[in-house]
Amino acid sequence: MITARLSAEDDFDGWRDQCRGLLRIGAKPEDVIWQVGDTPTDLFAATAKLSAPIGPAIGVPPEFVNLARSVICHTDPKRFGLLYGLLTDIKARRRRMDDAADPVLRNLHDMAKHVRRDIHKMRAFVRFRRVEQDGAEHYIAWFEPEHHIVRTNAAFFVRRFAGMQWSILTPQISVHWDRQTLHEGPAARKEDAPSEDVIEDQWKTYYGSIFNPARLKVKAMLKEMPKKYWHNMPETALVSELIKSARGREVSMIEKEIVPIAADTLASLKSEANRCRRCPLYAPASQIVFGEGPENARIMFVGEQPGDQEDLAGLPFVGPAGQLFNAALAEAGVDRAQAYVTNAVKHFKFKPQGKRRIHDKPNVGEINHCRWWLKREIDLVQPDLVVALGATAARSLTGRNIPITANRGQVFESIEGVPVLVTIHPSYLLRLPDAQLAEQEKAVFVEDLRQTKAMVERASAQGARTPA
Ligand code: URA
Repeated sequence: MITARLSAEDDFDGWRDQCRGLLRIGAKPEDVIWQVGDTPTDLFAATAKLSAPIGPAIGVPPEFVNLARSVICHTDPKRFGLLYGLLTDIKARRRRMDDAADPVLRNLHDMAKHVRRDIHKMRAFVRFRRVEQDGAEHYIAWFEPEHHIVRTNAAFFVRRFAGMQWSILTPQISVHWDRQTLHEGPAARKEDAPSEDVIEDQWKTYYGSIFNPARLKVKAMLKEMPKKYWHNMPETALVSELIKSARGREVSMIEKEIVPIAADTLASLKSEANRCRRCPLYAPASQIVFGEGPENARIMFVGEQPGDQEDLAGLPFVGPAGQLFNAALAEAGVDRAQAYVTNAVKHFKFKPQGKRRIHDKPNVGEINHCRWWLKREIDLVQPDLVVALGATAARSLTGRNIPITANRGQVFESIEGVPVLVTIHPSYLLRLPDAQLAEQEKAVFVEDLRQTKAMVERASAQGARTPA
């Protein structure tokens, strides 16, 4: 037997190094015992004799790396061995990453999904409480993750609360941000975190006013916001009162056509969006054009709104602008199939002109109504980078009017704290009257896309944020 040692439960880099060494000596998965720190994850570890050597880098499909990054954060002790088994099978061409029926792959994808959900829950349910420490404000939160996601998720909280001094305490580890550096500390106990603070009443008032009784589905609510997190969340103290008073408010809100929503996968989000009545654009359009792409995409492209052909096909970027976009992506070496492609506004807005339907720019109200869906897409996909194609997308993502020509290639932050690279909309190239100028502008667009590719690869190599 061979022991492969990892420094921590979520030690992806260590696991990868060990795999390189194990592959070099041709170790069979069943001969490897995985050990985290000094604790064997396998009962037979006592029989271990050898340690795995370090080996050279190995080429594997990026989907495998993305999957492994997520699965490593799962709590199942068998995960390291399962992933190493899959790796050896892929190298020996016994398995393919795209075989949807493969039970091993399905099991691993399932684990990755649970990890992604846990990451999402932590982002949604962490509640900071304010304390005074040495005359300064410090925000402390207690959270109990199901999986080993705290390190991975820390980058999100750094981006989101960069200007605050905060600590997140968990039974696994604690992480502390001093506005400059992220530090890691030992496991904590619930009693180490404050249970109430002075801003709690304001937060409860706010929650009470935004609570949407039309969305009240108790089962769905418990699934979205499991009871185990309630004790961290001041607003839950109000829930039973709000439920009791929901009936009357529900009627008036339904009259205003607010749609009940509860979706935690892209497929269910899309089917909810099919019934969207948040603004009048749904009525003349043929159908909603929702985003498309893998749920674990590391890059998301956001356009303005579907055009005539997208409206008929029900898919984003399939018309003339889409073809130009595809050509530019190919030239930049970005694989569209690995990206999530969507729009700021999901219905085609047009003015009829004879038999033709002429594109009509969405206004700020329409952009803001539709942002609800875009936010949910971002929350579910958790991309490393979002690319705003044009001014409407930039407005929707950042909440700001960003002049594109002066800012293309620059990175901003979305309302939820995700980096947003701003570039032109491909239809701008179609509108240029001069072919030479259009060629030049296309070359700059391709350069912007190359930059996005490099940024995502860098983020991925650093494991800087949420793994896919
Ligand atoms: N333009 C967009 O912004 N989105 C599409 O899907 C098509 C054209």
